[in-house]
Amino acid sequence: MPQFTRTLVTTALPYANGPVHLGHLAGVYLPADLYVRYKRLKGEDVIHIGGSDEHGVPITITAEKEGISPKDVVDRYHGMNLEAFTKCGISFDYYGRTTSEVHHQTAKDFFLEIEGKGIFQQKTEKLFFDRKANRFLSDRYVTGTCPICNNSEANGDQCEQCGTHLSPLELINPKSKFSDATPELRETMHWYFPLGSFQQQLEDYVTLHESDWRSNVVNYTRTWLKQGLNDRAITRDLNWGITVPLERDEAAGKVLYVWFDAVLGYISFTKEWAAEQGDAERWKSYWQDPQSRLVHFIGKDNVVFHTLMFPAILMAWNEGQQSDCYNLADNVPASEFMNFEGRKFSKSRNYAVYLGEFLEKFPADTLRYSIAMNYPENKDTDFSWQDFQNRTNGELADTLGNFIKRSIDFTNARFDGVVPCNVTADEWNDLGIDWHDTLEQLDRAYEGFHFRDATSVGMDIARAANRFLTVSEPWKIIKVDRNAAARTMALSLNLCHALSIALYPVLPETCNRIHAMLGFDGPLEDLIVRGASLFADLLAPKLQQGHKLRENSEILFTKIEESAIAPELAKINTLLAEAEKREAGVVESRMEFKPVISFEDFQKIDLRVATVIAAEPVKKASKLLKLQLQVGSVTKQVLAGIAQHYSAEEMVGKNVLMVANLAERTMRNEVSQGMILAVDGADGKLFILEPSGTEINGRAVQ
Ligand code: 2FM
Ligand code: ZN
Repeated sequence: MPQFTRTLVTTALPYANGPVHLGHLAGVYLPADLYVRYKRLKGEDVIHIGGSDEHGVPITITAEKEGISPKDVVDRYHGMNLEAFTKCGISFDYYGRTTSEVHHQTAKDFFLEIEGKGIFQQKTEKLFFDRKANRFLSDRYVTGTCPICNNSEANGDQCEQCGTHLSPLELINPKSKFSDATPELRETMHWYFPLGSFQQQLEDYVTLHESDWRSNVVNYTRTWLKQGLNDRAITRDLNWGITVPLERDEAAGKVLYVWFDAVLGYISFTKEWAAEQGDAERWKSYWQDPQSRLVHFIGKDNVVFHTLMFPAILMAWNEGQQSDCYNLADNVPASEFMNFEGRKFSKSRNYAVYLGEFLEKFPADTLRYSIAMNYPENKDTDFSWQDFQNRTNGELADTLGNFIKRSIDFTNARFDGVVPCNVTADEWNDLGIDWHDTLEQLDRAYEGFHFRDATSVGMDIARAANRFLTVSEPWKIIKVDRNAAARTMALSLNLCHALSIALYPVLPETCNRIHAMLGFDGPLEDLIVRGASLFADLLAPKLQQGHKLRENSEILFTKIEESAIAPELAKINTLLAEAEKREAGVVESRMEFKPVISFEDFQKIDLRVATVIAAEPVKKASKLLKLQLQVGSVTKQVLAGIAQHYSAEEMVGKNVLMVANLAERTMRNEVSQGMILAVDGADGKLFILEPSGTEINGRAVQ
């Protein structure tokens, strides 16, 4: 393991096309903030770089929906998201925008460097073109019928109904979202990044980190590597983005693919940060000094872009370079998802709690704590209002808040607001808290990205402190033994200080308030010294006899009443009812009868009973099974969207009903020569129609 002297933390750049919600906070921004705040208190050199992803189709689609320009969209949401993050205490060192000049230049430099090395390939392909709108249509701009489930509103990249990833060419009756026109195929040239050429280097890179990366990150990445890496187009025909920096006709009208530019944003924003610090070259020490550690916080949906695509781009840059090579990420702590009241957050279905709105009603630290305790580290977790209320009232208000207030109020009332005596090391170590062990636990938890554990360690100190004060009963003891009560209060006040350090990463605002109530001038952050860990303050009592507290205390956490939660619960019911109505609407529309056809038309369908003689999954298509069907003496291959309902093994030997004369189609580079019939069951389950009986002889009787 190399010894790192500094750390660069990056967080996934959210698209500036909507407000961030609690799911984003839980998966990416809060864990990153806990990590950097911990490291800062440890006296380490760490910076947190984030910002808005302002290019790509998600932005242009929002602009078109709202009838405004892409620039207006990103201006609005960049500001809104930055404000919400700031209010939530997410302490970015820099929060940039991919529309900045520095970023455009950085992305262009990368393109030109890799192009100059002859690494890119140029390929001509046929893409859908809308003649009315006079533009090429990227995947999400094409809609049509899903070849798997027949949903007539499937998108060119994915069918929302059955979840299948599609290419626009697979859609039946494709339509342009711009004009409703049927798009035509037109040739266009694009630059491709040959990810496959980096296969071996990437495999070595992943192997190097196999033991220290999370298993979900290794697994996603390995799945891709096993399938073999393909060339990836890194340009698009779009009028919003970073233009391809070549003065050639073939580059006209083309921009860099948003994922190619977005990951480079981390570099651009570090440059912008360095310039702001008055040392324009300083970004290099974070990116190019091998003693600098790079950590990307992301959600699980972004893994391969950070473990394969971005490293490969950096490898391409580094190729043949004697100096100024870029570091590759040392870790990529990708989270699972946090759901909301048992359901997935969904921006498009408006099923979400937006961060900015939440913080108008409840304090940031209560949210930070609740989310940290539900951090989706290895599995999806759930945010519920009930859990939020319980944690705020029980853990924050009754345990932590109560202990701090009792300690300060009693000292103010009975000891003139000063620490009444010194505390010995023995007394400190006799509190029932093993401070060395606590420090080790905190370090293991934070450095291992186990944020729930880290938060629990802090709350355990608060529980022990609260117990100590309650059991010691200084308010009774003072009547008979003032010195004993004084010792209790000196210990309690030192525990208050220890808590303000231990819980600072999770509750920065609260810990600053504790710090102020303890009589310190200036914010807690003023205690930070590079190279010295503030956590050492936990090992020995810090506050000496005579240390003066601030005169008045304050209530740290207000309890959340049922009446504050009730409207939120009611809102969920409305959201759920709306979602159900929409889903019912889809079912309803599927129930509508199609136009009448003649008996002759029906007779054109050649329905057969066929036997499945072989079945296997289809690469990169989790919904599809490839079936070999015996129809009389003929074998036909059919791709069926049933893989989530039937395994390949259980299909073999079954009799199925098939449409045997359907025109051949190619999906995932495989030919499908028919269709097998199935019906929708309850709960979205699919049942294939299985003719039974001993006398089946192949032809379905019409
Ligand atoms: O999934 C997303 O929201 C992307 N905008 C994340 C980009 S992360 C990085 F590459 F910038
Ligand atoms: Zn579908």
